[in-house]
Amino acid sequence: MGMAEASDYNTRHSFETRTAHAPGRVNLIGDHTDYTGGFAMPIAIQLGTEVTWLPEAGSDAIELSSSTEPESTSVPFDVVADADEIAMILPEWCRYVAGVVATINPACGGKGIVVADLPARAGLSSSASLEVALALALGFAGSRQELALSCQGGEMLATGVATGILDQMAVASARAGHAMLMDCSSLEVRHVALPPDVQIVAVHCGVARSVTASAYAERVRQCDVAAGIVGPLRTASVSEVDRIGNQLIRRRARHVVSENARVLAFAAALESGDLKEAGNLMNQSHLSLSNDYEVSIEELDQLVSWLQGIDGVFGARMTGAGFGGCAVAISRPGALRGRLQSHRYWIVRACEGARVR
Ligand code: GLA
Repeated sequence: MGMAEASDYNTRHSFETRTAHAPGRVNLIGDHTDYTGGFAMPIAIQLGTEVTWLPEAGSDAIELSSSTEPESTSVPFDVVADADEIAMILPEWCRYVAGVVATINPACGGKGIVVADLPARAGLSSSASLEVALALALGFAGSRQELALSCQGGEMLATGVATGILDQMAVASARAGHAMLMDCSSLEVRHVALPPDVQIVAVHCGVARSVTASAYAERVRQCDVAAGIVGPLRTASVSEVDRIGNQLIRRRARHVVSENARVLAFAAALESGDLKEAGNLMNQSHLSLSNDYEVSIEELDQLVSWLQGIDGVFGARMTGAGFGGCAVAISRPGALRGRLQSHRYWIVRACEGARVR
C-alpha cells in the first residue's frame, strides 16, 4: 500500500477568508475494526460540509453559525483541550468545534458559516466532515494523514470516547471513483477503483443514531479485554479467539477478527470485479455486527434483510457505528428504482477527500 500523500495543505495568509469543503463517508465494509488497528474500506460521498471562515486579528472568539443547527456557537480561540470541560459545552455541535479548535490552535478568533447537506446522526460521518472542513478553514497545514489524526483528536475531546481513525481518514483522503482500503495500524491506504457497473445506495432506517457513546466505549473496552487474552486482534486468528472462555468477549473478538478478513477479501473481490462475492461479504459483515457485536437494531436488521432480498442487489449491511442510522447496499444500477419511496436514501458517488476552495 502507498502512504497517504504528504504536504497536501499549506498555510495560507492568516487573515484572508478561507472556504473548505469536506465530504461525508459511507463505509462499505469494516466497521468496529479501526480502534483495534484493523482494516476498513470506506468511500467519501458527494454530501458534505462547507466552512467559510474569516479570521479577525485581535478577536479571541471563534463564532460559527450553521445551516443545519438552530443555535450558533462561540468558543474561545485558546479553548483548553480538556474533555471534561468540553463535555459541558452547549449546544452539542459546539463540542466538535471546541475539540478541533483545541487541537488546531488557531492564531486568533473570527467568524464563520457552516453549510452542510450531510444529514446528522445518520452514520455518514457528519461530525468528521465538520471537523475536517473546520480544521482546513482555520488554516491547518500538513499532510492528509496529519489532518485526519488531528481531527480524530478533536472528536475524542468532543465525545470523551476513544473513537477510531476511520471517519477522519476517509473524509480527508478518499479518491474519486475509488474505495479506500485503509490499514488503521499503519494508516497506509490503497485506493481500489470501483467497477463501473455498480450503484451504491445509503438508506436511512428511520431511527436517528443515538446513545452510541456509552455502547461504543463499552465495545472498545471489551476489545481491550480480548486483546489482553489473545494479543492484538489484528493478528489473532479465529481459532485463537474461539478459545476465549468468556462468551461475550469471544463474540466481540470474533466479529473484529472475521471482519478484518472480510475487508481484505472484499478489496480483492472489488479488484477482480466480483460484485457477487463483494455483496456476500457485506451480508456476512451485517450478521456479524448484529449477532456477535450487537451494534445493530431491529429497524436496521429489517431494512438490511429487505435490501438483500431485492433482485439486482449484491449485498447490504449497516454502516458506521450502528444503533440507528443508515444501511448501505451495492447493486446493479437502477435495481432499487421505485423501491425506496418510503425511505430517506441517497445514491452516493465515490468522491474526492477534503479540499480548500
Ligand atoms: C464511528 C467511529 C469510527 C468507527 C465507526 C465504526 O463512526 O467514529 O471510528 O469506529 O464508528 O466502524
